[in-house]
Amino acid sequence: MEIIRTIKDMQEFSRQARLDGKRIAVVPTMGYLHSGHTSLIDCARAEADLVIVTLFVNPTQFAPSEDLSTYPRDFERDCELCEEHGADVLFAPPSTEMYYPDQSVWIDEDKLSQKLCGASRPVFFRGVCTVVTKLFNITLPDFAVFGQKDAQQALIIKRLVRDLNFPVEIIIGPLVREENGMALSSRNRYLSKEERQNALSISQALHQVERDIVKFHIHNKEKIMTAISKQISAAGGEIDYVEIYDAKTLEDVSEKSNKILIACAATFGKARLIDNVVLDLSD
Ligand code: PAJ
Repeated sequence: MEIIRTIKDMQEFSRQARLDGKRIAVVPTMGYLHSGHTSLIDCARAEADLVIVTLFVNPTQFAPSEDLSTYPRDFERDCELCEEHGADVLFAPPSTEMYYPDQSVWIDEDKLSQKLCGASRPVFFRGVCTVVTKLFNITLPDFAVFGQKDAQQALIIKRLVRDLNFPVEIIIGPLVREENGMALSSRNRYLSKEERQNALSISQALHQVERDIVKFHIHNKEKIMTAISKQISAAGGEIDYVEIYDAKTLEDVSEKSNKILIACAATFGKARLIDNVVLDLSD
């Protein structure tokens, strides 16, 4: 596996691969990789001739009060995991390489970003859209793989590609969980043993309402949201949001909604965790 550090080298590498007729996949990450990330690399590997993983803890998607400086990092292990899962290139630029100190062009999605995580993290999606645009221009992929763990991010990236006509196909890989149901996240690292146990309430609450909706046809949105909030709060979590939307549009659920997204964000100790389930109403 090749490790590339500069934009120029990465663009040259990808340009050559394109000339050679290779189908290029990119998997953007902020590192501290786990099985959620590697499942996306596997998905890319299955479809592409050249798999590029990017590792960049993107400063512009963190607010000053957030965890940029403490975000977990383990470059050696990330390299090993990328190799194990058959990545061809790890693009890991220093942050001086990615941003000019006076960068003045930014990508703002201004509809889907207003809700859920965007409501409490106002600079987050602007940072994500900008860095993903840059990563696409640097790695020149045919397709990119993102995870359903970040359901809103996935929708916004699809919108970015649609509205700005990127010649990049977006593939969304399923949310990977621990055996106990907890969504894998680099930020789980912040949890103490006790907090980890308590934070299980998030996935448990989501799966409980999923079962209730399927079994008892409970479709009262307020009732569902309250049930989830109560369970997470009772376990000591501080709720940021619990919301239910049409999974495709992030609009309120209507008769037209085939799939609904039940999403929540809550903080346990130092870790702000997000999780979601999607219910297919056409089943
Ligand atoms: P990061 O949190 O490192 O996640 C990288 C990719 O892995 C994202 O597409 C995310 O949805 C996916 N992922 C994380 N946990 C997952 C899980 N448990 N199951 C499936 N997929 C999972 O998301 C980002 O980084 C950044 O915002 C980024 C897109 C790289 C831009 O900086």
